[in-house]
Amino acid sequence: MSQSVEPAAGVPALRVSDLRTYFPVRSKGLFPKTIGQVKAVDGVSFEVYPGETLGLVGESGCGKSTTGRSVLRLIEPTSGRIEFDGVDVTGLSSKEMVPVRRKAAMIFQDPYNALNPRHTVGAIISAPFAVQGVKPPGGVKAAVQELMERVGLNPEHYNRYPAEFSGGQRQRIGIARAVALRPKFIVCDEPVSALDVSIQAQVINLLRDLQDEFGIAYLFVAHDLAVVRQISNRVAVMYLGQVMELATREDLYARPLHPYTHALLSAIPVPDPRAQKQREHIMLSGDLPSPAAPPTGCVFHTRCFQAQEICASEKPALVEPTTGHHVACHFPILEFLGTKEILGPDPGLTPRAGGSLAGAAAGSNDLIREIGTDYGVGPDTPIDPGPSIWR
Ligand SMILES: Nc1ncnc2c1ncn2[C@@H]1O[C@H](COP(=O)(O)OP(=O)(O)OP(=O)(O)O)[C@@H](O)[C@H]1O
Ligand code: SF4
Ligand SMILES: [Mg+2]
Repeated sequence: MSQSVEPAAGVPALRVSDLRTYFPVRSKGLFPKTIGQVKAVDGVSFEVYPGETLGLVGESGCGKSTTGRSVLRLIEPTSGRIEFDGVDVTGLSSKEMVPVRRKAAMIFQDPYNALNPRHTVGAIISAPFAVQGVKPPGGVKAAVQELMERVGLNPEHYNRYPAEFSGGQRQRIGIARAVALRPKFIVCDEPVSALDVSIQAQVINLLRDLQDEFGIAYLFVAHDLAVVRQISNRVAVMYLGQVMELATREDLYARPLHPYTHALLSAIPVPDPRAQKQREHIMLSGDLPSPAAPPTGCVFHTRCFQAQEICASEKPALVEPTTGHHVACHFPILEFLGTKEILGPDPGLTPRAGGSLAGAAAGSNDLIREIGTDYGVGPDTPIDPGPSIWR
Protein backbone atom coordinates (compact mmCIF):
# COMPACT_ATOMS: atom_id res chain seq x y z
CA MET A 1 0.00 0.00 0.00
CA SER A 2 1.67 3.21 -1.03
CA GLN A 3 1.77 6.22 1.24
CA SER A 4 1.15 9.90 0.77
CA VAL A 5 2.30 11.40 4.05
CA GLU A 6 5.64 13.19 3.89
CA PRO A 7 7.34 11.35 6.73
CA ALA A 8 6.08 8.11 5.22
CA ALA A 9 9.39 7.23 3.67
CA GLY A 10 11.99 4.60 4.34
CA VAL A 11 11.32 1.54 6.47
CA PRO A 12 7.98 1.56 8.29
CA ALA A 13 8.04 1.08 12.05
CA LEU A 14 5.23 -1.43 11.47
CA ARG A 15 4.08 -3.16 8.33
CA VAL A 16 1.03 -5.42 8.46
CA SER A 17 0.16 -7.56 5.44
CA ASP A 18 -3.11 -9.45 4.99
CA LEU A 19 -3.56 -9.95 8.72
CA ARG A 20 -6.34 -12.33 9.79
CA THR A 21 -7.35 -13.18 13.32
CA TYR A 22 -10.19 -15.66 13.65
CA PHE A 23 -11.58 -16.87 16.97
CA PRO A 24 -13.15 -20.32 17.10
CA VAL A 25 -16.86 -20.59 17.92
CA ARG A 26 -17.48 -23.70 20.00
CA SER A 27 -20.67 -25.64 20.58
CA LYS A 28 -22.05 -25.93 24.08
CA GLY A 29 -22.14 -29.20 25.99
CA LEU A 30 -19.78 -31.65 27.54
CA PHE A 31 -17.66 -32.13 24.42
CA PRO A 32 -17.57 -28.74 22.69
CA LYS A 33 -16.67 -28.75 19.00
CA THR A 34 -15.54 -25.91 16.79
CA ILE A 35 -18.62 -25.00 14.78
CA GLY A 36 -17.49 -21.74 13.22
CA GLN A 37 -15.14 -18.78 13.35
CA VAL A 38 -15.44 -15.16 14.41
CA LYS A 39 -13.55 -13.28 11.71
CA ALA A 40 -12.49 -10.42 13.98
CA VAL A 41 -9.74 -9.28 11.60
CA ASP A 42 -10.09 -10.41 8.02
CA GLY A 43 -7.28 -9.44 5.67
CA VAL A 44 -5.99 -6.10 6.92
CA SER A 45 -2.89 -4.39 5.51
CA PHE A 46 -1.28 -1.09 6.47
CA GLU A 47 1.98 0.55 7.46
CA VAL A 48 2.86 3.01 10.20
CA TYR A 49 5.96 5.12 9.71
CA PRO A 50 8.33 6.51 12.36
CA GLY A 51 6.84 9.59 13.99
CA GLU A 52 3.47 8.99 12.33
CA THR A 53 0.04 8.32 13.84
CA LEU A 54 -2.30 6.02 11.98
CA GLY A 55 -5.83 6.31 13.36
CA LEU A 56 -7.96 3.16 13.27
CA VAL A 57 -11.70 3.83 13.56
CA GLY A 58 -14.93 1.92 13.28
CA GLU A 59 -17.97 0.78 15.22
CA SER A 60 -17.74 -1.31 18.35
CA GLY A 61 -16.86 -4.90 17.49
CA CYS A 62 -15.32 -4.15 14.07
CA GLY A 63 -11.96 -5.58 15.13
CA LYS A 64 -9.87 -2.55 16.14
CA SER A 65 -8.57 -3.93 19.44
CA THR A 66 -7.99 -7.36 17.93
CA THR A 67 -5.92 -5.71 15.19
CA GLY A 68 -3.87 -3.78 17.77
CA ARG A 69 -3.31 -6.84 19.95
CA SER A 70 -2.57 -9.09 16.99
CA VAL A 71 0.17 -6.84 15.61
CA LEU A 72 1.86 -6.98 19.01
CA ARG A 73 1.17 -10.73 19.04
CA LEU A 74 -0.64 -10.45 22.35
CA ILE A 75 -3.25 -12.41 20.39
CA GLU A 76 -1.87 -14.95 17.94
CA PRO A 77 -2.98 -14.04 14.40
CA THR A 78 -4.43 -16.77 12.20
CA SER A 79 -2.40 -15.68 9.18
CA GLY A 80 -0.63 -12.70 7.64
CA ARG A 81 2.68 -11.01 8.14
CA ILE A 82 3.84 -8.48 10.74
CA GLU A 83 7.12 -6.60 10.39
CA PHE A 84 8.71 -4.27 12.91
CA ASP A 85 11.43 -2.07 11.48
CA GLY A 86 11.64 -4.31 8.42
CA VAL A 87 12.01 -7.52 10.47
CA ASP A 88 9.37 -10.22 10.08
CA VAL A 89 8.22 -11.17 13.58
CA THR A 90 5.26 -13.31 12.55
CA GLY A 91 6.85 -16.67 13.27
CA LEU A 92 9.01 -15.73 16.27
CA SER A 93 8.71 -17.78 19.48
CA SER A 94 7.74 -16.03 22.73
CA LYS A 95 11.41 -16.06 23.72
CA GLU A 96 12.44 -14.53 20.40
CA MET A 97 9.71 -11.93 20.84
CA VAL A 98 11.25 -10.58 24.09
CA PRO A 99 13.73 -8.18 22.41
CA VAL A 100 11.02 -7.19 19.89
CA ARG A 101 8.73 -6.20 22.74
CA ARG A 102 11.29 -3.61 23.73
CA LYS A 103 10.51 -1.79 20.50
CA ALA A 104 6.74 -2.01 20.80
CA ALA A 105 4.30 -1.24 23.59
CA MET A 106 0.62 -0.81 24.29
CA ILE A 107 -1.52 1.76 26.08
CA PHE A 108 -4.88 0.38 27.18
CA GLN A 109 -8.33 1.93 27.14
CA ASP A 110 -9.29 1.52 30.75
CA PRO A 111 -6.85 3.26 33.10
CA TYR A 112 -8.72 1.70 36.05
CA ASN A 113 -8.22 -1.92 35.08
CA ALA A 114 -4.92 -1.65 33.20
CA LEU A 115 -2.88 -1.12 36.37
CA ASN A 116 -2.42 -3.71 39.10
CA PRO A 117 -4.06 -2.12 42.18
CA ARG A 118 -1.66 -3.95 44.52
CA HIS A 119 1.49 -2.54 42.90
CA THR A 120 2.94 0.89 43.57
CA VAL A 121 3.35 3.33 40.72
CA GLY A 122 7.11 2.82 40.99
CA ALA A 123 6.73 -0.93 40.55
CA ILE A 124 4.29 -0.52 37.64
CA ILE A 125 6.46 1.89 35.65
CA SER A 126 9.67 -0.02 36.37
CA ALA A 127 8.19 -3.37 35.22
CA PRO A 128 9.51 -3.05 31.61
CA PHE A 129 13.06 -2.50 32.96
CA ALA A 130 12.76 -5.68 35.05
CA VAL A 131 11.21 -7.78 32.26
CA GLN A 132 13.84 -6.71 29.73
CA GLY A 133 16.75 -6.74 32.21
CA VAL A 134 17.54 -3.12 31.42
CA LYS A 135 19.66 -1.22 33.98
CA PRO A 136 19.39 2.48 33.23
CA PRO A 137 22.38 4.63 34.22
CA GLY A 138 21.59 6.19 37.59
CA GLY A 139 19.35 3.30 38.59
CA VAL A 140 15.76 2.26 37.94
CA LYS A 141 14.21 4.49 40.58
CA ALA A 142 15.81 7.62 39.15
CA ALA A 143 14.73 6.60 35.63
CA VAL A 144 11.16 5.97 36.78
CA GLN A 145 10.96 9.28 38.63
CA GLU A 146 12.29 11.05 35.56
CA LEU A 147 9.56 9.35 33.51
CA MET A 148 6.93 10.34 36.07
CA GLU A 149 8.02 13.94 35.81
CA ARG A 150 8.05 13.71 32.01
CA VAL A 151 4.43 12.56 31.88
CA GLY A 152 3.25 15.16 34.38
CA LEU A 153 3.17 13.10 37.58
CA ASN A 154 4.78 14.08 40.85
CA PRO A 155 7.92 11.88 41.23
CA GLU A 156 7.41 11.94 44.98
CA HIS A 157 4.31 9.80 44.47
CA TYR A 158 6.56 6.88 43.51
CA ASN A 159 5.28 4.71 46.38
CA ARG A 160 1.58 5.47 45.94
CA TYR A 161 -1.00 3.01 44.61
CA PRO A 162 -3.18 3.44 41.48
CA ALA A 163 -6.32 3.95 43.60
CA GLU A 164 -4.80 7.21 44.87
CA PHE A 165 -4.79 8.72 41.35
CA SER A 166 -7.50 10.15 39.09
CA GLY A 167 -8.38 8.58 35.72
CA GLY A 168 -6.19 11.01 33.79
CA GLN A 169 -3.26 10.46 36.15
CA ARG A 170 -3.65 6.70 35.85
CA GLN A 171 -3.52 6.99 32.09
CA ARG A 172 -0.29 8.99 32.53
CA ILE A 173 1.08 6.08 34.59
CA GLY A 174 0.15 3.73 31.72
CA ILE A 175 1.85 6.05 29.24
CA ALA A 176 5.01 6.29 31.38
CA ARG A 177 5.15 2.49 31.50
CA ALA A 178 4.65 2.27 27.73
CA VAL A 179 7.45 4.72 26.89
CA ALA A 180 9.87 3.50 29.59
CA LEU A 181 12.10 1.64 27.13
CA ARG A 182 11.73 4.25 24.36
CA PRO A 183 9.74 2.01 21.99
CA LYS A 184 9.54 2.78 18.29
CA PHE A 185 5.89 1.83 18.06
CA ILE A 186 2.90 1.97 20.42
CA VAL A 187 -0.63 0.68 20.02
CA CYS A 188 -2.90 3.19 21.79
CA ASP A 189 -6.20 1.33 22.26
CA GLU A 190 -8.84 3.98 22.95
CA PRO A 191 -6.48 5.70 25.40
CA VAL A 192 -8.82 8.63 26.08
CA SER A 193 -12.28 7.07 25.70
CA ALA A 194 -12.75 6.58 29.43
CA LEU A 195 -11.62 10.11 30.33
CA ASP A 196 -13.44 13.44 30.68
CA VAL A 197 -13.23 15.62 27.58
CA SER A 198 -10.94 18.19 29.28
CA ILE A 199 -8.58 15.44 30.41
CA GLN A 200 -8.69 13.81 26.96
CA ALA A 201 -7.07 16.92 25.49
CA GLN A 202 -4.24 16.83 28.01
CA VAL A 203 -3.51 13.16 27.42
CA ILE A 204 -3.55 13.59 23.64
CA ASN A 205 -1.24 16.56 24.06
CA LEU A 206 1.14 14.40 26.09
CA LEU A 207 1.09 11.60 23.50
CA ARG A 208 1.93 14.12 20.80
CA ASP A 209 4.80 15.62 22.78
CA LEU A 210 6.28 12.18 23.43
CA GLN A 211 5.91 11.33 19.76
CA ASP A 212 7.77 14.48 18.76
CA GLU A 213 10.49 13.84 21.32
CA PHE A 214 11.09 10.14 20.65
CA GLY A 215 9.83 9.74 17.06
CA ILE A 216 7.32 7.07 18.12
CA ALA A 217 4.85 5.62 15.60
CA TYR A 218 1.31 5.23 16.98
CA LEU A 219 -1.52 3.00 15.90
CA PHE A 220 -4.30 5.02 17.53
CA VAL A 221 -7.48 3.03 17.95
CA ALA A 222 -10.76 4.86 18.59
CA HIS A 223 -14.42 4.59 17.71
CA ASP A 224 -14.68 8.37 17.57
CA LEU A 225 -13.71 10.05 14.28
CA ALA A 226 -13.51 13.43 16.01
CA VAL A 227 -10.84 12.23 18.46
CA VAL A 228 -8.88 10.45 15.74
CA ARG A 229 -8.87 13.63 13.68
CA GLN A 230 -6.99 15.46 16.43
CA ILE A 231 -3.97 13.20 16.44
CA SER A 232 -3.75 11.19 13.21
CA ASN A 233 -1.66 11.80 10.12
CA ARG A 234 -3.59 9.10 8.30
CA VAL A 235 -6.78 7.28 9.15
CA ALA A 236 -7.99 3.75 8.38
CA VAL A 237 -11.72 3.05 8.62
CA MET A 238 -12.60 -0.52 9.60
CA TYR A 239 -15.85 -2.41 9.20
CA LEU A 240 -16.39 -6.07 10.13
CA GLY A 241 -12.68 -6.85 10.31
CA GLN A 242 -11.74 -5.16 7.03
CA VAL A 243 -10.29 -1.81 6.00
CA MET A 244 -12.91 0.12 4.01
CA GLU A 245 -10.92 3.31 3.46
CA LEU A 246 -7.42 4.55 4.27
CA ALA A 247 -6.26 8.07 3.55
CA THR A 248 -4.49 11.11 4.91
CA ARG A 249 -6.43 12.89 7.57
CA GLU A 250 -7.12 15.80 5.22
CA ASP A 251 -8.40 13.53 2.42
CA LEU A 252 -10.51 11.37 4.66
CA TYR A 253 -12.35 14.21 6.33
CA ALA A 254 -12.67 16.50 3.33
CA ARG A 255 -13.01 13.99 0.50
CA PRO A 256 -14.35 10.72 1.93
CA LEU A 257 -14.93 8.08 -0.74
CA HIS A 258 -16.55 5.17 1.07
CA PRO A 259 -20.28 5.24 1.92
CA TYR A 260 -19.49 3.94 5.41
CA THR A 261 -17.04 6.79 6.04
CA HIS A 262 -19.75 9.22 4.93
CA ALA A 263 -22.14 7.69 7.45
CA LEU A 264 -19.55 7.94 10.25
CA LEU A 265 -18.69 11.55 9.36
CA SER A 266 -22.32 12.56 9.22
CA ALA A 267 -22.67 11.39 12.81
CA ILE A 268 -20.03 13.80 14.16
CA PRO A 269 -21.85 16.70 15.87
CA VAL A 270 -20.80 20.21 14.81
CA PRO A 271 -20.62 23.02 17.37
CA ASP A 272 -22.93 25.40 15.43
CA PRO A 273 -26.55 24.36 16.24
CA ARG A 274 -27.87 25.90 12.99
CA ALA A 275 -25.35 23.99 10.89
CA GLN A 276 -26.10 20.88 12.93
CA LYS A 277 -29.81 21.22 12.13
CA GLN A 278 -29.21 21.68 8.40
CA ARG A 279 -26.78 18.86 7.86
CA GLU A 280 -27.96 15.44 6.93
CA HIS A 281 -27.36 12.48 9.14
CA ILE A 282 -26.98 9.27 7.19
CA MET A 283 -28.80 6.57 9.12
CA LEU A 284 -27.45 3.13 8.44
CA SER A 285 -30.14 0.51 8.22
CA GLY A 286 -29.90 -2.60 10.35
CA ASP A 287 -27.39 -3.73 12.94
CA LEU A 288 -23.75 -4.59 12.53
CA PRO A 289 -23.76 -8.17 11.18
CA SER A 290 -21.99 -10.84 13.20
CA PRO A 291 -18.33 -11.37 12.30
CA ALA A 292 -19.11 -15.08 12.72
CA ALA A 293 -21.31 -14.87 9.60
CA PRO A 294 -20.14 -11.83 7.61
CA PRO A 295 -22.19 -10.89 4.53
CA THR A 296 -21.01 -12.15 1.15
CA GLY A 297 -19.43 -9.77 -1.37
CA CYS A 298 -18.96 -6.36 0.20
CA VAL A 299 -19.39 -6.88 3.95
CA PHE A 300 -21.10 -3.47 4.15
CA HIS A 301 -23.77 -4.23 1.52
CA THR A 302 -26.52 -5.09 4.03
CA ARG A 303 -26.43 -1.52 5.38
CA CYS A 304 -25.13 0.49 2.45
CA PHE A 305 -27.33 3.27 1.06
CA GLN A 306 -25.98 2.83 -2.45
CA ALA A 307 -25.54 -0.92 -2.72
CA GLN A 308 -26.15 -2.51 -6.12
CA GLU A 309 -26.65 -6.13 -7.08
CA ILE A 310 -22.98 -6.80 -7.59
CA CYS A 311 -22.19 -5.67 -4.04
CA ALA A 312 -23.81 -8.78 -2.57
CA SER A 313 -21.74 -11.16 -4.65
CA GLU A 314 -18.38 -9.57 -5.41
CA LYS A 315 -15.98 -8.30 -2.77
CA PRO A 316 -14.56 -4.92 -3.79
CA ALA A 317 -10.77 -4.71 -3.84
CA LEU A 318 -8.93 -2.00 -1.96
CA VAL A 319 -7.97 0.39 -4.77
CA GLU A 320 -6.15 3.71 -4.81
CA PRO A 321 -8.17 6.17 -6.95
CA THR A 322 -5.94 9.08 -5.93
CA THR A 323 -2.44 8.91 -4.53
CA GLY A 324 -2.46 7.62 -0.98
CA HIS A 325 -6.26 7.39 -0.82
CA HIS A 326 -7.43 3.77 -0.66
CA VAL A 327 -11.02 2.61 -0.80
CA ALA A 328 -12.76 -0.77 -0.97
CA CYS A 329 -16.01 -0.02 -2.80
CA HIS A 330 -17.52 -0.82 -6.19
CA PHE A 331 -19.18 2.61 -6.23
CA PRO A 332 -16.90 5.02 -4.38
CA ILE A 333 -18.27 8.52 -3.94
CA LEU A 334 -15.83 10.14 -6.30
CA GLU A 335 -17.42 13.54 -6.60
CA PHE A 336 -19.39 14.66 -3.73
CA LEU A 337 -18.94 17.98 -2.08
CA GLY A 338 -20.18 20.87 -4.16
CA THR A 339 -22.07 18.70 -6.63
CA LYS A 340 -23.77 16.64 -3.91
CA GLU A 341 -23.82 13.68 -6.21
CA ILE A 342 -22.68 10.16 -5.82
CA LEU A 343 -21.07 8.97 -8.98
CA GLY A 344 -20.38 5.44 -10.06
CA PRO A 345 -16.88 4.09 -10.46
CA ASP A 346 -14.43 5.90 -12.64
CA PRO A 347 -13.68 3.62 -15.61
CA GLY A 348 -10.06 4.65 -15.26
CA LEU A 349 -9.67 3.04 -11.86
CA THR A 350 -7.45 0.02 -11.76
CA PRO A 351 -8.44 -2.72 -9.38
CA ARG A 352 -5.79 -4.30 -7.20
CA ALA A 353 -4.71 -7.81 -8.10
CA GLY A 354 -7.67 -10.16 -7.90
CA GLY A 355 -10.15 -7.35 -7.43
CA SER A 356 -12.73 -5.61 -9.54
CA LEU A 357 -14.60 -2.40 -9.84
CA ALA A 358 -18.24 -2.80 -10.71
CA GLY A 359 -19.20 -0.76 -13.70
CA ALA A 360 -15.60 -0.25 -14.68
CA ALA A 361 -15.89 -2.95 -17.32
CA ALA A 362 -19.06 -1.45 -18.69
CA GLY A 363 -17.53 1.99 -18.47
CA SER A 364 -20.63 3.17 -16.66
CA ASN A 365 -20.65 6.31 -14.65
CA ASP A 366 -24.37 6.62 -14.41
CA LEU A 367 -25.16 5.93 -10.79
CA ILE A 368 -26.13 9.36 -9.64
CA ARG A 369 -28.12 10.00 -6.52
CA GLU A 370 -28.80 13.05 -4.54
CA ILE A 371 -28.11 12.69 -0.88
CA GLY A 372 -27.47 16.37 -0.20
CA THR A 373 -24.98 15.85 2.58
CA ASP A 374 -22.37 18.25 3.81
CA TYR A 375 -20.48 17.36 6.94
CA GLY A 376 -18.98 20.79 7.36
CA VAL A 377 -15.59 19.73 6.04
CA GLY A 378 -15.24 20.63 2.37
CA PRO A 379 -12.09 20.13 0.29
CA ASP A 380 -11.05 23.72 0.94
CA THR A 381 -11.94 23.76 4.60
CA PRO A 382 -8.77 23.81 6.66
CA ILE A 383 -8.74 20.97 9.13
CA ASP A 384 -9.16 22.36 12.58
CA PRO A 385 -6.20 21.10 14.58
CA GLY A 386 -8.22 21.45 17.76
CA PRO A 387 -7.81 23.68 20.77
CA SER A 388 -4.40 25.27 21.17
CA ILE A 389 -3.68 23.00 24.11
CA TRP A 390 -3.30 20.20 21.56
CA ARG A 391 -0.62 21.96 19.57
N1 LIG B 1 -11.20 -13.69 22.58
C1 LIG B 1 -12.24 -13.63 21.76
N2 LIG B 1 -12.96 -14.72 21.46
C2 LIG B 1 -14.01 -14.65 20.61
N3 LIG B 1 -14.40 -13.53 19.97
C3 LIG B 1 -13.71 -12.41 20.24
C4 LIG B 1 -12.59 -12.39 21.15
N4 LIG B 1 -12.11 -11.12 21.21
C5 LIG B 1 -12.89 -10.38 20.40
N5 LIG B 1 -13.84 -11.16 19.82
C6 LIG B 1 -14.85 -10.72 18.85
O1 LIG B 1 -14.16 -10.16 17.75
C7 LIG B 1 -14.86 -9.04 17.25
C8 LIG B 1 -13.94 -7.83 17.27
O2 LIG B 1 -13.69 -7.47 18.63
P1 LIG B 1 -12.76 -6.24 19.03
O3 LIG B 1 -12.67 -6.22 20.50
O4 LIG B 1 -11.48 -6.34 18.27
O5 LIG B 1 -13.60 -5.01 18.49
P2 LIG B 1 -13.38 -3.44 18.71
O6 LIG B 1 -13.47 -2.82 17.36
O7 LIG B 1 -12.13 -3.20 19.47
O8 LIG B 1 -14.66 -3.05 19.56
P3 LIG B 1 -14.81 -1.93 20.72
O9 LIG B 1 -14.92 -0.60 20.01
O10 LIG B 1 -16.08 -2.32 21.40
O11 LIG B 1 -13.61 -2.01 21.62
C9 LIG B 1 -16.10 -8.86 18.13
O12 LIG B 1 -17.17 -9.50 17.48
C10 LIG B 1 -15.73 -9.61 19.39
O13 LIG B 1 -16.89 -10.12 20.02
S1 SF4 C 1 -19.24 -2.00 -2.59
FE1 SF4 C 1 -21.43 -1.59 -2.75
S2 SF4 C 1 -22.25 -2.16 -0.75
FE2 SF4 C 1 -20.06 -1.96 -0.53
S3 SF4 C 1 -19.75 0.11 0.17
FE3 SF4 C 1 -19.55 0.14 -2.03
S4 SF4 C 1 -21.58 0.62 -2.84
FE4 SF4 C 1 -21.81 0.02 -0.69
MG1 LIG D 1 -11.75 -2.33 21.35
